Amino acid sequence: MQKGIFITFEGSEGSGKSTHIRFAASYFRKRGRRPLMIREPGSTRSSEAIRRILLDPQNKKMGQATELLLYLAARAQLVEEKILPALKAGRVIISDRFEDSTLAYQGFGAGISRHTIESFSRFVRGSLKPDLTFILDIHPQKGLARGGRHDRVEKKSDAFHRRVRNGFLTLARQNKKRIVLLSTDKPVREVQQQILKHLKRFYG
Ligand SMILES: Nc1ncnc2c1ncn2[C@@H]1O[C@H](COP(=O)(O)OP(=O)(O)OP(=O)(O)O)[C@@H](O)[C@H]1O
Ligand SMILES: [Mg+2]
Repeated sequence: MQKGIFITFEGSEGSGKSTHIRFAASYFRKRGRRPLMIREPGSTRSSEAIRRILLDPQNKKMGQATELLLYLAARAQLVEEKILPALKAGRVIISDRFEDSTLAYQGFGAGISRHTIESFSRFVRGSLKPDLTFILDIHPQKGLARGGRHDRVEKKSDAFHRRVRNGFLTLARQNKKRIVLLSTDKPVREVQQQILKHLKRFYG
């Protein structure tokens, strides 16, 4: 049986995660794998229900503790119901966001301490970590302009989105072995070439 692979795509709003996930999935399909595509928060029945609460702009008063715990609750269900069984079955899993987003948004963005996030996170995911993470970087104004500002998270302040971006850049510096940092302020094709290079290096 082939070895399970867990790859995550991270980055701010409109940084190109969905676009480049499709490209990475096609890389593995060409090599005879059938990647499992998931998104956070979401991808199980209960996690998608939690996603709707988190993104609902009407939930204006949601506090940061509630927010953190809802993201982690959604993740707990996804890990148990989908990620761990797929890894065990030797599949390639590609996730749109995972724990780096929690550190960037709830940590750097909202100001919850890293210690708090990491201790709850360990409870949720045990020793599970992505094998490879792409952080896609774009200036927040540019990224938000690509998709608009519709949901509860996109509607947060410009200063919040700047902290999130800087958070992702810091995480990339602190985890050089796992994280590949790519600027998406350039044509899609150029970013794809870089992703291809790294996928070949790891899984060629
Ligand atoms: N270098 C690039 N990489 C990715 N997308 C790019 C790039 N240049 C321009 N774009 C455009 O920017 C948009 C990125 O949107 P995409 O939905 O992939 O981002 P996302 O990170 O998934 O956003 P969201 O946070 O809303 O889910 C697309 O319309 C894409 O064509
Ligand atoms: Mg997307």
